[in-house]
Amino acid sequence: MILHQRGGEGPRDLDHGTTPPDGRPIDEQPKWRRDFPVDWAQDEYVSRRELVKFMVLTSAAMVAGQFWIVLKSTFGRTAARSSDVPIARVDELPIGGAKTFTYPEGSTPRLLVRTGAVTFVAYDQQCTHLLCPVVPAVEVGRLHCPCHNGWFDLATGRPVAGPPQRALPRIFVEIRDGSVYATGVEESTT
Ligand code: FES
Repeated sequence: MILHQRGGEGPRDLDHGTTPPDGRPIDEQPKWRRDFPVDWAQDEYVSRRELVKFMVLTSAAMVAGQFWIVLKSTFGRTAARSSDVPIARVDELPIGGAKTFTYPEGSTPRLLVRTGAVTFVAYDQQCTHLLCPVVPAVEVGRLHCPCHNGWFDLATGRPVAGPPQRALPRIFVEIRDGSVYATGVEESTT
């Protein structure tokens, strides 16, 4: 970069060092100038260059972070497959009925809800806000947390109202031979 100096001293190339005012080589300059060979103009130029580099790197990191958040929110819910365990007989629950169970053994309470003649959904029963147990509100297609009036969609487990921000972890279920089996847990990585 070429900088035109004040006072008619002529241009200087800021990328290749500072020219002393008397034009003598640097090893003939006083000690203070040899110790601090960068003048104000060059110092400001280097600072601006460093600032631009910092801003570019910071912006790139922010873009990468946003991209990662989008990826996680899109694909962040993964299924952890465990062995299949029978958790209820199909005729055990009326449509709209529910029961709690554990899966895998020793887990936090899970909630199984019968939503139709051959459809069941199951989720972790702990609200993702502050862990109060959610209860089914099948008539409105939701799960309700009475502690702070949080609501989740019954079909997906996603929060739809109130303080909760994260979906309830889903328990995958299958119907076989008149029984409902838990077959895996959907774990949120967000
Ligand atoms: S604990 Fe469920 S809404 Fe607060």
